[in-house]
Amino acid sequence: MILVTGGAGFIGSNFVLDWLAEQDEPVVNLDALTYAGNLNNLRPIENDPRHIFVHGNIGDAALLSDLFTRHKPRAVVNFAAESHVDRSIHGPEDFIQTNILGTFRLLEAARAYWGGLQNKSDLRFLHVSTDEVFGTLGADDPAFNEETSYRPNSPYSASKAASDHLVRAYFHTYGLPVVTTNCSNNYGPLHFPEKLIPLVIHNALRGRPLPIYGDGMQIRDWLYVKDHCSAIRRVLEAGRLGETYNIGGWNERANLHVVTTLCEVLDELQPRSDGKKYSEQIAFVTDRPGHDRRYAIDARKIEAELGWRPAETFESGIRKTVRWYLDNADWVENVTSGSYRNWVEKQYA
Ligand code: NAD
Ligand code: DAU
Repeated sequence: MILVTGGAGFIGSNFVLDWLAEQDEPVVNLDALTYAGNLNNLRPIENDPRHIFVHGNIGDAALLSDLFTRHKPRAVVNFAAESHVDRSIHGPEDFIQTNILGTFRLLEAARAYWGGLQNKSDLRFLHVSTDEVFGTLGADDPAFNEETSYRPNSPYSASKAASDHLVRAYFHTYGLPVVTTNCSNNYGPLHFPEKLIPLVIHNALRGRPLPIYGDGMQIRDWLYVKDHCSAIRRVLEAGRLGETYNIGGWNERANLHVVTTLCEVLDELQPRSDGKKYSEQIAFVTDRPGHDRRYAIDARKIEAELGWRPAETFESGIRKTVRWYLDNADWVENVTSGSYRNWVEKQYA
């Protein structure tokens, strides 16, 4: 049994679906079902007895204690977080609550449970984090590696950095068997359409502007979500305790390039009815405050130590992603009703 937190969100639900497709070990999935968590993501396993969904908060100490006692997980994979940088700029409070305090409560519950285990190797705690904790790179700087100093620039990345430090401290102070992963930008199925790639696909198909912050020359490293999930499984299996592993796709792309690529794939797979190009919908808008200019991941450690490699290139992953959104209009309709309208839709009303 493993305990997954945030398993109704984008990466967490992909992880749970892939996990149960690959092996029989059951999953307890603890998720607060915020705007970003969606039980529809888990529909393929809704009647699967190996999947135990628990609607709850990682900040709830009593619930956590009960879950550890009842299910005796051999591993915790902590995805639960507030994840959107723009939201963290508009309202950082939830990020502090979940990403810092929530991770602290989860660590405490894990420590209490682990303290009572006879065999201390019967638990490991994998904390899922981000490359944003390293801050920003100049055009010629080497990519982030595991020795790069933390220099977070947004409330989101600062809250993730704090959680990473807590996880590290629990290893050094208490010996809790932890491992942390720092991954670059994910994309793929089940991605909530507030983030760049699903937002652009969503807006393009509705004839809305495709917003590019600033000059669009900010660079991100992009990784197909299934590749992130395979990396996490590999680190859970064989990562060295107390270590951190950077995960990336060797796919540095400027945002403008990402958006024009999406437009070209859409032009091919679902051309506009008026015969025009989707790129005509591109609109340069006010930049994000504190916008990091460039992220790049040096993934040589996980590749050399654990033999992990991404399966998708940027081009193959983007094509799969566009195809998925075209084939899953009902999923998009479902997640974009309700609270979503308060956030993104009002900008295009
Ligand atoms: P997401 O926003 O899509 O999903 C987060 C999930 O956590 C949701 O299901 C939400 O309901 C749940 N959640 C939020 N607060 C909770 C709480 N207090 N208790 C329990 N559940 C709660 O996020 P995501 O993009 O899937 O990211 C998952 C993790 O991976 C995060 O920790 C994020 O920092 C990290 N990460 C994301 C990316 C990326 O590109 N999306 C890249 C690297 C790392
Ligand atoms: O690097 C990993 C991080 O990637 C994760 O830790 C975060 O959880 C995840 O949200 C993501 O953060 P970003 O801020 O990089 O993702 P986002 O999709 O919001 O933005 C990607 C880039 O596109 C960024 O440079 C901002 C820009 N952007 C974004 C949006 C939503 C635009 O130009 N226009 C937009 O409308």
